[in-house]
Amino acid sequence: MIKTRLAKSFIAVLALLPVLAFGADRVGDFSLLDQQGYFHSMSWYDDHHAVALLVQANGSQATQDALSEYLALRDQYDSQGIEFFMLNPMGLNNRDDVAAEQTRLGVDMPVLMDDAQVISEALGVGKTGEVFLYNPKSFTVEFRGPVGPEFVQALTAVVAGEAVSNTVVATTGSPVTYAYKMATVSYEQDIAPIIADNCAKCHREAGIAPFALNSHAVAQGWSPMIREVVMTKRMPPAQVDPHIGDFSNDMNLQDSEVQKLFSWIDAGSPKDGATDPLALLTWPESEWAFGEPDLIIEIPPQAVPATGVYPVSPSWT
Ligand code: HEC
Repeated sequence: MIKTRLAKSFIAVLALLPVLAFGADRVGDFSLLDQQGYFHSMSWYDDHHAVALLVQANGSQATQDALSEYLALRDQYDSQGIEFFMLNPMGLNNRDDVAAEQTRLGVDMPVLMDDAQVISEALGVGKTGEVFLYNPKSFTVEFRGPVGPEFVQALTAVVAGEAVSNTVVATTGSPVTYAYKMATVSYEQDIAPIIADNCAKCHREAGIAPFALNSHAVAQGWSPMIREVVMTKRMPPAQVDPHIGDFSNDMNLQDSEVQKLFSWIDAGSPKDGATDPLALLTWPESEWAFGEPDLIIEIPPQAVPATGVYPVSPSWT
Protein backbone atom coordinates (compact mmCIF):
# COMPACT_ATOMS: atom_id res chain seq x y z
CA MET A 1 0.00 0.00 0.00
CA ILE A 2 2.68 2.45 1.06
CA LYS A 3 4.81 1.43 -1.88
CA THR A 4 1.99 2.14 -4.33
CA ARG A 5 1.43 5.54 -2.77
CA LEU A 6 5.09 6.36 -3.01
CA ALA A 7 5.20 5.26 -6.61
CA LYS A 8 2.15 7.35 -7.39
CA SER A 9 3.55 10.48 -5.79
CA PHE A 10 6.83 9.89 -7.59
CA ILE A 11 5.00 9.73 -10.91
CA ALA A 12 3.07 12.86 -9.98
CA VAL A 13 6.34 14.70 -9.28
CA LEU A 14 7.82 13.47 -12.55
CA ALA A 15 4.77 14.67 -14.44
CA LEU A 16 5.24 18.14 -12.93
CA LEU A 17 8.91 18.39 -13.77
CA PRO A 18 8.69 19.51 -17.40
CA VAL A 19 6.27 22.23 -16.38
CA LEU A 20 8.56 23.46 -13.65
CA ALA A 21 11.64 23.31 -15.84
CA PHE A 22 10.34 24.76 -19.09
CA GLY A 23 6.79 26.00 -18.60
CA ALA A 24 7.24 29.31 -16.85
CA ASP A 25 9.25 31.21 -19.42
CA ARG A 26 8.12 29.76 -22.73
CA VAL A 27 6.73 32.67 -24.68
CA GLY A 28 6.54 31.09 -28.13
CA ASP A 29 7.78 32.34 -31.46
CA PHE A 30 6.53 35.76 -32.56
CA SER A 31 6.73 38.20 -35.45
CA LEU A 32 6.36 41.97 -35.42
CA LEU A 33 6.81 44.89 -37.79
CA ASP A 34 9.34 47.54 -36.81
CA GLN A 35 8.92 51.34 -36.90
CA GLN A 36 9.99 51.33 -40.58
CA GLY A 37 7.56 48.56 -41.53
CA TYR A 38 10.13 45.75 -41.77
CA PHE A 39 8.96 42.33 -40.66
CA HIS A 40 10.95 40.43 -38.02
CA SER A 41 10.26 36.85 -37.08
CA MET A 42 12.11 35.52 -34.04
CA SER A 43 12.65 32.05 -35.52
CA TRP A 44 14.76 33.68 -38.27
CA TYR A 45 17.39 34.23 -35.58
CA ASP A 46 17.60 30.60 -34.48
CA ASP A 47 21.25 30.57 -35.54
CA HIS A 48 21.85 33.24 -32.86
CA HIS A 49 22.49 32.66 -29.15
CA ALA A 50 19.84 35.18 -28.18
CA VAL A 51 17.76 38.17 -29.20
CA ALA A 52 18.02 41.22 -26.92
CA LEU A 53 14.94 43.43 -26.58
CA LEU A 54 15.12 46.81 -24.82
CA VAL A 55 11.66 48.07 -23.86
CA GLN A 56 11.15 51.41 -25.59
CA ALA A 57 8.51 54.09 -25.10
CA ASN A 58 8.57 57.61 -26.46
CA GLY A 59 9.66 60.07 -23.79
CA SER A 60 10.66 57.31 -21.37
CA GLN A 61 13.59 58.42 -19.24
CA ALA A 62 14.35 54.79 -18.35
CA THR A 63 14.71 53.88 -22.04
CA GLN A 64 16.94 56.88 -22.69
CA ASP A 65 19.10 56.16 -19.63
CA ALA A 66 19.70 52.60 -20.86
CA LEU A 67 20.43 53.57 -24.46
CA SER A 68 24.12 54.41 -24.60
CA GLU A 69 25.20 51.27 -22.74
CA TYR A 70 22.77 49.16 -24.80
CA LEU A 71 24.20 50.51 -28.06
CA ALA A 72 27.75 49.91 -26.83
CA LEU A 73 26.82 46.31 -25.98
CA ARG A 74 25.37 45.89 -29.44
CA ASP A 75 28.69 46.94 -30.95
CA GLN A 76 30.44 44.39 -28.76
CA TYR A 77 28.06 41.42 -28.97
CA ASP A 78 26.44 41.79 -32.40
CA SER A 79 29.24 39.76 -34.02
CA GLN A 80 29.00 37.14 -31.26
CA GLY A 81 25.53 35.91 -32.16
CA ILE A 82 23.29 38.34 -30.27
CA GLU A 83 20.68 40.29 -32.25
CA PHE A 84 19.72 43.65 -30.70
CA PHE A 85 16.26 45.19 -30.99
CA MET A 86 14.03 47.54 -29.10
CA LEU A 87 10.42 46.63 -28.34
CA ASN A 88 7.59 49.12 -28.01
CA PRO A 89 4.83 47.59 -25.83
CA MET A 90 2.64 50.67 -25.51
CA GLY A 91 -0.02 49.70 -28.04
CA LEU A 92 -0.36 53.27 -29.30
CA ASN A 93 -0.02 52.49 -33.01
CA ASN A 94 2.43 55.39 -33.30
CA ARG A 95 5.08 53.96 -35.56
CA ASP A 96 5.91 57.34 -37.16
CA ASP A 97 6.35 59.05 -33.78
CA VAL A 98 8.66 56.24 -32.67
CA ALA A 99 10.68 56.58 -35.88
CA ALA A 100 10.94 60.34 -35.22
CA GLU A 101 12.07 59.71 -31.62
CA GLN A 102 14.74 57.29 -32.83
CA THR A 103 15.99 59.91 -35.29
CA ARG A 104 15.97 62.58 -32.56
CA LEU A 105 18.02 60.34 -30.26
CA GLY A 106 20.30 59.32 -33.14
CA VAL A 107 19.53 55.63 -32.68
CA ASP A 108 19.70 53.30 -35.65
CA MET A 109 17.95 50.19 -34.35
CA PRO A 110 14.66 48.48 -35.25
CA VAL A 111 11.89 49.02 -32.70
CA LEU A 112 9.47 46.09 -32.82
CA MET A 113 6.05 47.70 -32.65
CA ASP A 114 3.75 45.57 -30.50
CA ASP A 115 0.57 47.45 -31.37
CA ALA A 116 -1.72 44.69 -30.07
CA GLN A 117 0.44 44.38 -26.89
CA VAL A 118 -0.05 40.61 -26.72
CA ILE A 119 3.61 39.75 -27.36
CA SER A 120 4.77 42.09 -24.58
CA GLU A 121 2.15 40.64 -22.28
CA ALA A 122 3.37 37.13 -23.09
CA LEU A 123 6.98 38.18 -22.48
CA GLY A 124 5.95 39.71 -19.15
CA VAL A 125 7.03 43.26 -20.03
CA GLY A 126 6.24 45.45 -17.02
CA LYS A 127 8.58 48.45 -17.22
CA THR A 128 10.11 50.67 -19.86
CA GLY A 129 13.89 50.52 -19.95
CA GLU A 130 13.86 46.82 -19.05
CA VAL A 131 15.87 44.49 -21.26
CA PHE A 132 14.99 40.90 -22.21
CA LEU A 133 17.24 38.17 -23.52
CA TYR A 134 15.08 35.83 -25.55
CA ASN A 135 16.19 32.47 -26.91
CA PRO A 136 15.03 32.19 -30.55
CA LYS A 137 15.35 28.38 -30.54
CA SER A 138 13.44 27.48 -27.38
CA PHE A 139 11.36 30.71 -27.45
CA THR A 140 12.06 31.31 -23.77
CA VAL A 141 13.17 34.35 -21.79
CA GLU A 142 16.69 33.76 -20.44
CA PHE A 143 17.11 37.08 -18.63
CA ARG A 144 15.13 40.18 -17.75
CA GLY A 145 16.31 43.21 -15.86
CA PRO A 146 18.03 46.57 -16.28
CA VAL A 147 20.85 47.22 -18.76
CA GLY A 148 23.73 46.81 -16.33
CA PRO A 149 26.28 44.33 -14.96
CA GLU A 150 23.79 41.42 -14.63
CA PHE A 151 22.73 41.88 -18.25
CA VAL A 152 26.39 41.78 -19.32
CA GLN A 153 26.83 38.59 -17.24
CA ALA A 154 23.80 37.09 -18.97
CA LEU A 155 25.18 38.02 -22.42
CA THR A 156 28.54 36.48 -21.58
CA ALA A 157 26.84 33.31 -20.33
CA VAL A 158 24.60 32.75 -23.37
CA VAL A 159 27.49 33.43 -25.76
CA ALA A 160 29.53 30.80 -23.88
CA GLY A 161 26.57 28.39 -24.05
CA GLU A 162 26.18 28.48 -20.26
CA ALA A 163 23.09 28.95 -18.12
CA VAL A 164 22.36 32.48 -16.92
CA SER A 165 22.78 32.57 -13.13
CA ASN A 166 20.81 35.72 -12.34
CA THR A 167 17.74 35.43 -14.57
CA VAL A 168 15.43 38.09 -13.09
CA VAL A 169 16.65 41.45 -11.79
CA ALA A 170 14.25 44.19 -10.68
CA THR A 171 14.00 47.23 -12.98
CA THR A 172 12.93 50.79 -12.23
CA GLY A 173 11.11 52.29 -15.18
CA SER A 174 7.64 53.53 -16.00
CA PRO A 175 5.01 50.80 -15.72
CA VAL A 176 3.54 49.33 -18.90
CA THR A 177 -0.19 48.67 -18.61
CA TYR A 178 -2.46 46.27 -20.47
CA ALA A 179 -5.89 47.88 -20.40
CA TYR A 180 -7.42 45.21 -22.66
CA LYS A 181 -6.90 42.59 -19.93
CA MET A 182 -9.68 44.25 -17.92
CA ALA A 183 -12.44 43.47 -20.39
CA THR A 184 -14.33 40.18 -20.28
CA VAL A 185 -14.46 38.32 -23.56
CA SER A 186 -17.37 36.19 -24.68
CA TYR A 187 -17.05 33.28 -27.10
CA GLU A 188 -20.55 33.83 -28.45
CA GLN A 189 -20.38 37.63 -28.75
CA ASP A 190 -16.70 38.26 -29.55
CA ILE A 191 -14.69 35.22 -30.55
CA ALA A 192 -17.07 33.34 -32.82
CA PRO A 193 -17.69 36.48 -34.95
CA ILE A 194 -13.92 37.08 -35.27
CA ILE A 195 -13.35 33.51 -36.45
CA ALA A 196 -16.42 33.63 -38.70
CA ASP A 197 -15.27 36.85 -40.39
CA ASN A 198 -11.54 36.18 -40.61
CA CYS A 199 -10.92 32.45 -40.68
CA ALA A 200 -13.97 30.36 -41.50
CA LYS A 201 -14.19 31.23 -45.18
CA CYS A 202 -11.11 29.02 -45.64
CA HIS A 203 -11.44 26.94 -42.46
CA ARG A 204 -14.78 25.31 -43.33
CA GLU A 205 -16.03 22.07 -44.80
CA ALA A 206 -14.70 21.87 -48.38
CA GLY A 207 -12.68 25.04 -47.79
CA ILE A 208 -9.02 25.37 -48.79
CA ALA A 209 -7.67 25.13 -45.22
CA PRO A 210 -6.91 21.78 -43.63
CA PHE A 211 -9.55 21.87 -40.89
CA ALA A 212 -12.97 23.45 -40.37
CA LEU A 213 -13.38 25.94 -37.51
CA ASN A 214 -17.07 25.10 -37.28
CA SER A 215 -17.78 24.68 -33.58
CA HIS A 216 -16.65 25.86 -30.18
CA ALA A 217 -15.07 22.45 -29.51
CA VAL A 218 -12.90 22.64 -32.64
CA ALA A 219 -11.84 26.24 -31.95
CA GLN A 220 -10.99 25.31 -28.37
CA GLY A 221 -9.00 22.27 -29.49
CA TRP A 222 -7.01 24.35 -31.97
CA SER A 223 -6.54 27.25 -29.52
CA PRO A 224 -2.83 26.75 -28.75
CA MET A 225 -2.10 26.55 -32.47
CA ILE A 226 -4.34 29.55 -33.20
CA ARG A 227 -2.36 31.52 -30.60
CA GLU A 228 0.89 30.50 -32.28
CA VAL A 229 -0.16 31.35 -35.85
CA VAL A 230 -1.52 34.73 -34.76
CA MET A 231 1.64 35.52 -32.75
CA THR A 232 3.78 34.77 -35.79
CA LYS A 233 1.38 36.53 -38.21
CA ARG A 234 1.07 33.33 -40.26
CA MET A 235 -2.72 33.47 -40.09
CA PRO A 236 -4.74 34.96 -41.58
CA PRO A 237 -2.37 34.43 -44.51
CA ALA A 238 -0.96 37.19 -46.72
CA GLN A 239 -1.21 40.02 -44.20
CA VAL A 240 -0.32 43.40 -45.65
CA ASP A 241 1.14 46.21 -43.58
CA PRO A 242 -1.97 47.96 -42.23
CA HIS A 243 -0.08 51.27 -41.94
CA ILE A 244 0.31 51.61 -45.69
CA GLY A 245 -2.61 52.48 -47.92
CA ASP A 246 -6.02 50.90 -47.67
CA PHE A 247 -6.27 47.48 -49.26
CA SER A 248 -9.67 46.04 -50.03
CA ASN A 249 -10.05 42.38 -48.97
CA ASP A 250 -6.97 42.62 -46.75
CA MET A 251 -6.74 39.84 -44.19
CA ASN A 252 -5.35 41.61 -41.14
CA LEU A 253 -6.92 41.14 -37.75
CA GLN A 254 -7.60 44.37 -35.84
CA ASP A 255 -5.45 44.85 -32.72
CA SER A 256 -8.61 44.57 -30.59
CA GLU A 257 -9.49 41.28 -32.28
CA VAL A 258 -6.02 39.87 -31.55
CA GLN A 259 -6.36 41.01 -27.93
CA LYS A 260 -9.76 39.33 -27.56
CA LEU A 261 -8.48 36.09 -29.09
CA PHE A 262 -5.53 36.01 -26.70
CA SER A 263 -7.62 36.86 -23.63
CA TRP A 264 -10.03 34.08 -24.54
CA ILE A 265 -7.34 31.50 -25.26
CA ASP A 266 -5.38 32.40 -22.11
CA ALA A 267 -8.59 31.89 -20.11
CA GLY A 268 -8.86 28.34 -21.49
CA SER A 269 -11.11 29.11 -24.48
CA PRO A 270 -14.36 28.85 -22.48
CA LYS A 271 -17.83 28.52 -24.00
CA ASP A 272 -20.67 30.82 -23.03
CA GLY A 273 -24.07 31.73 -24.44
CA ALA A 274 -26.92 29.56 -25.62
CA THR A 275 -25.83 29.26 -29.24
CA ASP A 276 -22.66 28.26 -31.05
CA PRO A 277 -22.43 30.79 -33.90
CA LEU A 278 -19.66 28.84 -35.65
CA ALA A 279 -21.87 25.75 -35.86
CA LEU A 280 -24.63 27.85 -37.44
CA LEU A 281 -22.57 29.28 -40.30
CA THR A 282 -23.75 28.33 -43.78
CA TRP A 283 -21.76 28.56 -46.98
CA PRO A 284 -22.78 28.74 -50.63
CA GLU A 285 -23.14 25.37 -52.32
CA SER A 286 -20.86 26.43 -55.18
CA GLU A 287 -17.21 25.45 -54.99
CA TRP A 288 -16.37 28.94 -56.38
CA ALA A 289 -15.94 31.28 -53.43
CA PHE A 290 -15.76 34.38 -55.67
CA GLY A 291 -18.49 33.41 -58.14
CA GLU A 292 -18.43 31.37 -61.36
CA PRO A 293 -15.21 31.89 -63.34
CA ASP A 294 -15.36 33.26 -66.90
CA LEU A 295 -13.31 30.39 -68.30
CA ILE A 296 -12.66 26.88 -67.03
CA ILE A 297 -9.81 24.91 -68.59
CA GLU A 298 -10.16 21.15 -68.16
CA ILE A 299 -6.75 19.49 -67.92
CA PRO A 300 -6.70 15.90 -69.22
CA PRO A 301 -5.53 13.28 -66.71
CA GLN A 302 -1.75 12.93 -66.66
CA ALA A 303 0.13 9.69 -65.97
CA VAL A 304 3.25 10.34 -63.90
CA PRO A 305 5.58 7.40 -63.17
CA ALA A 306 6.01 6.66 -59.48
CA THR A 307 9.82 6.71 -59.72
CA GLY A 308 12.53 7.81 -62.14
CA VAL A 309 13.35 10.98 -64.04
CA TYR A 310 10.46 12.47 -65.92
CA PRO A 311 11.38 13.62 -69.44
CA VAL A 312 11.04 17.38 -69.71
CA SER A 313 8.56 18.42 -72.36
CA PRO A 314 10.29 20.42 -75.14
CA SER A 315 7.71 23.18 -74.69
CA TRP A 316 8.94 23.76 -71.11
CA THR A 317 12.56 24.39 -72.06
C1 HEC B 1 -7.26 32.51 -47.16
C2 HEC B 1 -7.54 31.29 -46.45
C3 HEC B 1 -7.27 31.21 -44.96
C4 HEC B 1 -7.70 32.07 -43.98
C5 HEC B 1 -8.54 33.33 -44.14
C6 HEC B 1 -7.21 31.54 -42.72
N1 HEC B 1 -6.50 30.40 -42.94
FE1 HEC B 1 -5.60 29.25 -41.52
N2 HEC B 1 -4.87 28.03 -42.96
C7 HEC B 1 -5.09 28.16 -44.32
C8 HEC B 1 -4.34 27.15 -45.04
C9 HEC B 1 -4.33 26.96 -46.55
C10 HEC B 1 -3.63 26.41 -44.06
C11 HEC B 1 -2.66 25.25 -44.28
C12 HEC B 1 -1.34 25.74 -44.77
C13 HEC B 1 -0.55 26.41 -43.74
O1 HEC B 1 -0.43 25.91 -42.61
O2 HEC B 1 0.01 27.49 -44.06
C14 HEC B 1 -3.99 26.99 -42.78
C15 HEC B 1 -3.49 26.55 -41.55
C16 HEC B 1 -3.89 27.03 -40.32
C17 HEC B 1 -3.46 26.48 -39.05
C18 HEC B 1 -2.54 25.30 -38.86
C19 HEC B 1 -1.13 25.78 -38.98
C20 HEC B 1 -0.15 24.66 -39.05
O3 HEC B 1 1.04 24.98 -38.97
O4 HEC B 1 -0.54 23.50 -39.21
C21 HEC B 1 -4.08 27.22 -38.08
C22 HEC B 1 -3.99 27.03 -36.57
C23 HEC B 1 -4.87 28.23 -38.73
N3 HEC B 1 -4.73 28.09 -40.09
C24 HEC B 1 -5.64 29.18 -38.08
C25 HEC B 1 -6.28 30.22 -38.73
C26 HEC B 1 -6.96 31.29 -38.05
C27 HEC B 1 -7.09 31.42 -36.54
C28 HEC B 1 -7.45 32.12 -39.00
C29 HEC B 1 -8.20 33.40 -38.78
C30 HEC B 1 -7.67 34.37 -37.86
C31 HEC B 1 -7.08 31.58 -40.28
N4 HEC B 1 -6.37 30.44 -40.09
C32 HEC B 1 -7.42 32.14 -41.50
C33 HEC B 1 -5.92 29.08 -44.92
C34 HEC B 1 -6.52 30.16 -44.30
